[in-house]
Amino acid sequence: MHLLMGLLMNTEEALLFIEKLLAQQGYRLNDLERAIFRGAWQGKSYKEIHRNYNLQVSLDHAMRNVGPKLWKLLRKALDEPIRMKDLQGPILRAYAALAASPAVAAEIPPEVSPTMPDSLTSAPIVSWEMTPDVGIFCGRNPDLADLREHIDVGGRLIVILGMAGVGKTTLAIRLAQQVQDQFEVVIWRSLSVNRYESLAALTQDLLRVFGQLPDEPPMSSNYITNLWHYLSRYRCLIVLDGLEAVLQTSSDTGSFQKGCEPYGELFHRIGDTYHRSCLILTSRERPQELANMGRGEHAPVYIHPLDGLGEQAAREMLLSKYDLEGSEQAWSLFVRLYAGNPFALNIAASKIHDLYEGDIAQFLEVHAQETAIFGEIRSQLSQQFTRLSPKENVILTYLVKAGEPVRRNQILHNIAPRVSNEDLDQSLQSLMGRSLIQRNNGHYSLESFILEYAQELTNNQ
Ligand SMILES: Nc1ncnc2c1ncn2[C@@H]1O[C@H](COP(=O)(O)OP(=O)(O)OP(=O)(O)O)[C@@H](O)[C@H]1O
Ligand SMILES: [Mg+2]
Repeated sequence: MHLLMGLLMNTEEALLFIEKLLAQQGYRLNDLERAIFRGAWQGKSYKEIHRNYNLQVSLDHAMRNVGPKLWKLLRKALDEPIRMKDLQGPILRAYAALAASPAVAAEIPPEVSPTMPDSLTSAPIVSWEMTPDVGIFCGRNPDLADLREHIDVGGRLIVILGMAGVGKTTLAIRLAQQVQDQFEVVIWRSLSVNRYESLAALTQDLLRVFGQLPDEPPMSSNYITNLWHYLSRYRCLIVLDGLEAVLQTSSDTGSFQKGCEPYGELFHRIGDTYHRSCLILTSRERPQELANMGRGEHAPVYIHPLDGLGEQAAREMLLSKYDLEGSEQAWSLFVRLYAGNPFALNIAASKIHDLYEGDIAQFLEVHAQETAIFGEIRSQLSQQFTRLSPKENVILTYLVKAGEPVRRNQILHNIAPRVSNEDLDQSLQSLMGRSLIQRNNGHYSLESFILEYAQELTNNQ
């Protein structure tokens, strides 16, 4: 561990710092150099950087020309020997020295580096609107670590994808709270609560927040250009919660509702173009625009599928609110019955608390005979199922009748009415994008409580 590591500079902060230093010498980094720096800061080899960051030049060119030139520039700027394998020591030392003399940082003339913000050390402008209060927060450490890593390495578009009630909003709030100090502007908006009629309406709302920055407001009549002005100039974190509110219902997942198509253009631009900001989306459904984005270890677009809580975390969550008791086996059966879905578990736990003296075994006994789907659990599943396309419904009906995990070919040959290979694949992908079915070892199946609800629907047809 480096002695100066106590300074704790993450990749983006280190990059920002060296960009400022180089700007003093009149040099601005390009995307390729930034990617090499990011990888090197994390101790990666040229080969790994080339693969992870999808560099648009040959490995040989990166190794022989781009990298060495960058190290040479840094050597000059830091006035210290610097090697790719030992970047952190000299950079942290230089940072510590400069931090002791803030006037130096202020010397960087804005016209040399117009995109460089210099206010990372001051508090960000924060606008959280309609954010639910996260009281107790349990588990999710691996998810948070993974998401934070993607933000650290320059993730520009991050999607937390999972079924209703699985904990997307709660996780996104915790994530944003943890990383907000890395950003200059932090905005949270809920698409399901606000119901903006178009991207133009959302953008107007965001521009009102950006209006607090000491900038001349951009004058373009194109609202995306105006938004871009801020996203590229400042390091902004924008969280849009509940993206499914602007996606179409009754079709295979992911197309935008009429009038909401510009969201797709914006996501493409945010994912495909270099800037320092990060957009986090939470969604019950995978937007089609992202189908071909987000591959590769450190791609700027990242989709994080979210599963239910593990047994320990679910237990901790429920015991913090309800007086429950049960054997190890009862707890385990109970959490698995709802696939660790915190929304469903909370509803069921409140029933156990109110009607079964807090005894999990009594609840399980009753629900071995009857459905475990009731009240709000049913309404939430119903919201998700009413959005299915007719083809998705046919596939789910078949999975329910099969009663066990089935292979793709079994579905193809047995469903009625028949569908083409292409339609089957599209609908299977779409159902997986909604987290309603899962694929294990080439077999498709439903989580037990979703299966129960789907059985109920099939029986009522
Ligand atoms: N990690 C957690 N620790 C404690 N409680 C949690 C956790 N995750 C979710 N919950 C609780 O579970 C419920 C559902 O969570 P949340 O609203 O985040 O789900 P969601 O996936 O955003 O659902 P939707 O798709 O309906 O928006 C909330 O009451 C929340 O407080
Ligand atoms: Mg939510």
